[in-house]
Amino acid sequence: MKADILLGLQWGDEGKGKIVDVLAPDYDIVARFQGGPNAGHTLEFDGHKHVLRSIPSGVFAQGSITNVIGNGVVLDPVLFMREAAELEADGVDLHAILKISKKAHLIMPTHRLLDAAGEAAMGAGKIGTTGKGIGPTYSDKISRHGLRVGDILDDNFDAIYAAARDNHFRTLANMGANVDAAAFAASEAEWLEALDYLRSFALTDTEHFINKALSDDCSVLCEGAQGTMLDIDFGSYPFVTSSNTVAAGACTGLGIAPGRIGRVYGIFKAYCTRVGSGPFPTELFDATGEEIRSIGHEYGAVTGRERRCGWLDLVALRYAVMINGATDLIMMKSDVLDSFEQIKVCTAYRLPDGTVTSDFPFCVGRNAAGVADVEPIYETLPGWLTDITAARREEQLPEAFRSYISYIEKQVGVPVTILSVGPDREQTIIRH
Ligand code: GDP
Ligand code: IMO
Ligand code: MG
Repeated sequence: MKADILLGLQWGDEGKGKIVDVLAPDYDIVARFQGGPNAGHTLEFDGHKHVLRSIPSGVFAQGSITNVIGNGVVLDPVLFMREAAELEADGVDLHAILKISKKAHLIMPTHRLLDAAGEAAMGAGKIGTTGKGIGPTYSDKISRHGLRVGDILDDNFDAIYAAARDNHFRTLANMGANVDAAAFAASEAEWLEALDYLRSFALTDTEHFINKALSDDCSVLCEGAQGTMLDIDFGSYPFVTSSNTVAAGACTGLGIAPGRIGRVYGIFKAYCTRVGSGPFPTELFDATGEEIRSIGHEYGAVTGRERRCGWLDLVALRYAVMINGATDLIMMKSDVLDSFEQIKVCTAYRLPDGTVTSDFPFCVGRNAAGVADVEPIYETLPGWLTDITAARREEQLPEAFRSYISYIEKQVGVPVTILSVGPDREQTIIRH
């Protein structure tokens, strides 16, 4: 079998968790390939809401599904322990269904301090990170100073850890950061205790497990975190996260060869949101933006921060589809636009020199204020002015909404195969 991938095409929070949960019963394995507890993936069913951070969104699905935390993930043992405890309290036998890569990197308490110190040092130009130590952990991975999950099985782990921690302390001192010794001792003690809990899980060479499963005709769904516009290479650098969120990240983050990849599900909202700093060409600063935020409950699942809201950006979407080789589109939160008489979509950008482009340009990246140096060019489409949240079949959808979907498919060149019309598992329409 081939491995399918589901990933975000925008700035994260597209609804990946919901759709992984919907699709999971069709798969034998669900595997996270990058990111860490910066992610917040929301699942809703039977009147309950669950937010997953590092644990794959296949844990609630019926059937014998194995969930995998891949080598590309960065894992905070403390946050993992809390998340796992909540799931076990909800009746999920996590120890039976979860495997964790020995090659996943560990987020240390000092990584969180480094994240905070880095942000403080940047002042107004800060990234607006989630503060979970993501950047410093991936920096250590790339500079070959990281600690991996498999290291906690090493007799020398305490010494390896202490050396890495002291190295971080030196960096923090150079940055002029004040570390509260008592608070640090408490968080370190909690971290070490959480390692014991982590040791109780199946710490696995997951690349072997997944490749063997594919050879044995098992199906695999790779779950992305964040979104393409937050990718370290292709996002709006430097206002991005520190991993490859794109399809290629599933290959490196799980050890799956490119030839073994099947479908690539690209998920997007019917509009755009972004949390944290950085350019966002279609951002709305008016009452319309506020209306989208309020109807769509656009507040971060991890930090509770207000999500910035704006119209759908087809320039960015086409770019994301190209980079990922998306074979299917999944459109989320269309219901949030139910009451809008007119809906705008950005089809091109006007660059500072006056030229118009429909190719996502380099300049949507760093500048002093982290704003986009482009002017979005919009087309206006009629709204459907109908409550679509109860629709379960395509025939029940209003004509104007179906035209909106056809318009996007034509603009992007990829079919929309799944539609979401509300947060619940049931509020999903499979089209093809
Ligand atoms: P993820 O990080 O991509 O998994 O997305 P988040 O969970 O951070 O954010 C998506 C939010 O939208 C969550 O609160 C979901 O419950 C909610 N949601 C998902 N799909 C829909 C939908 O179709 N309509 C509405 N109104 N809400 C949705
Ligand atoms: P999910 O998986 C939305 C953003 C942060 C910040 C930038 C860098 O739920 O879609 P980091 O802590 O990763 O160093 O922060 O990336 N960010 C997200 N935005 N959804 C996410 O995850 C995000 N994870 C990180 O707000 O702008
Ligand atoms: Mg999220």
